[in-house]
Amino acid sequence: MNILIENKKLTEVEADITIVLVLNKNLDHKWIEDKKELEFLGFEGESEEICLVGKTIYVGCESTDNDEIRLSSAKAINHIKKTKAKTVKVGTYSNDCPGVNIKAMSEAFILGSYAYEEYKSDKKPLKIDSISICLEDYNDVAISEKTAKQAVEAGTIIANATNFAKDLVNEIPYKMHSLKLEEMAKGLESLENVTSKSFGKEFLEEQGMGAFLAVNRASHIPPRLLHVIYKPKNAKEKFVFVGKGLTYDTGGLSLKTGGHMVSMKSDMSGSAAVLAILKGAAELKLPYEVHAIVGATENAIGPEAYKPDDVLIAKNGKTIEVRNTDAEGRLVLADCLCYACEQKPDYLIDMATLTGACVVALGDYTTGVMGHSSELKNSLMQNADKSGELTGALPFNRYLKKLLKSSIADISNISSSSYGGAITAGLFLDNFVADEYKDKWLHLDIAGPAYVEKEWGYNQCGASGAGIRMNLYWMIEKSKEEA
Ligand code: BES
Ligand code: ZN
Ligand code: ZN
Repeated sequence: MNILIENKKLTEVEADITIVLVLNKNLDHKWIEDKKELEFLGFEGESEEICLVGKTIYVGCESTDNDEIRLSSAKAINHIKKTKAKTVKVGTYSNDCPGVNIKAMSEAFILGSYAYEEYKSDKKPLKIDSISICLEDYNDVAISEKTAKQAVEAGTIIANATNFAKDLVNEIPYKMHSLKLEEMAKGLESLENVTSKSFGKEFLEEQGMGAFLAVNRASHIPPRLLHVIYKPKNAKEKFVFVGKGLTYDTGGLSLKTGGHMVSMKSDMSGSAAVLAILKGAAELKLPYEVHAIVGATENAIGPEAYKPDDVLIAKNGKTIEVRNTDAEGRLVLADCLCYACEQKPDYLIDMATLTGACVVALGDYTTGVMGHSSELKNSLMQNADKSGELTGALPFNRYLKKLLKSSIADISNISSSSYGGAITAGLFLDNFVADEYKDKWLHLDIAGPAYVEKEWGYNQCGASGAGIRMNLYWMIEKSKEEA
């Protein structure tokens, strides 16, 4: 599906279907040719309300806010993909920042048209060949062709990176294991300025990564520490992303119940996200060095399994009492964060489907943001807003930190209280971030939004690619500020 820019009026372009966004319930705009029919059909232009009249699809849109545009455009494309239309056209809806809504629209078209059909016999390939964005604006604002094309290009890269991650997460756990993730990471080397390294058991042993190794013990598939680097010439700062790559989480000996285990193929969403961010950054040619570090293994059961009561030694020498083998993501991340600090990051961001408690705290749609620096948290969260991703800050405090005390080791892998579990998991990770990087570190718990049980917004059932757009928006914004 191509997204084209046409420097023409909406009526001058030929297409099978026209998308018209109905702003602020206003049916009196020149693009709305079916006012009477819409009124007859009871269409009021509520947000995301949709009505097809002849070959025009009308979608309610509250404002020219980016995410309103994204939601209504995705709604339109979702409907159109069920028709036989091959060509689609739409005008622009600029707000105070020209081009920004073209980017949002492009993202919506690509995100909204995603489908995972690998295991369906009756596949329904996308019939839409092209969507023409006509440079005639709802508010008659002039937008240059160059700005518009750049916006489409950026939106396309961001959405394709998100869809790349969705494919990784949606794949079944029988196929998506540490070695497959290794192959996918290696595949990123085809991008300019990207190299990758992969480490197995021996390296983890040499490095003293006893926590990561313990989680892998019952798996018949070896662990992998993956490290992909995008390093453009004259790179400015260094962003190091660390992803939880639990290709399946059974809970280990602290076994999950049947219902809670379903969807745990998505426990590698953090790793898919960090690889996707690197892909996006390389394609956008961002002026930063970007590292994606992945701890890939499954959390299985078997005679070799690590046990509650075991004590593990992490790479930085800290000892960890295992009280629950289902709190495994933090063990893998502990060693990966130690490794990540050795890369001397300017920004250190870990991404993980870490706790059910985060979903309890913030709901299904929101990423939990934790860290020591309010400035850093705010900076990411403001850009998350622009990207349409939802975030909520979860504050650390000294009392929650104490709940991780262990009588036999330096620290326990679970809190002694059943409350505040998302934050205590974040505080556990804090033990593995070296002092000089504390203020450069953010922990993103994506357990809620990473996997969609019931479709919402522009997300289909299955993987959503949570955390990718917010970080790409953040880096893009930073690069503009610093230019
Ligand atoms: N992968 C899970 C967290 C999770 C839960 C992700 C629901 C997505 C949806 C994680 O490894 C886990 O099992 N965490 C435990 C921690 C507990 C044992 C302290 C949890 O959240 O119950
Ligand atoms: Zn678990
Ligand atoms: Zn897990």
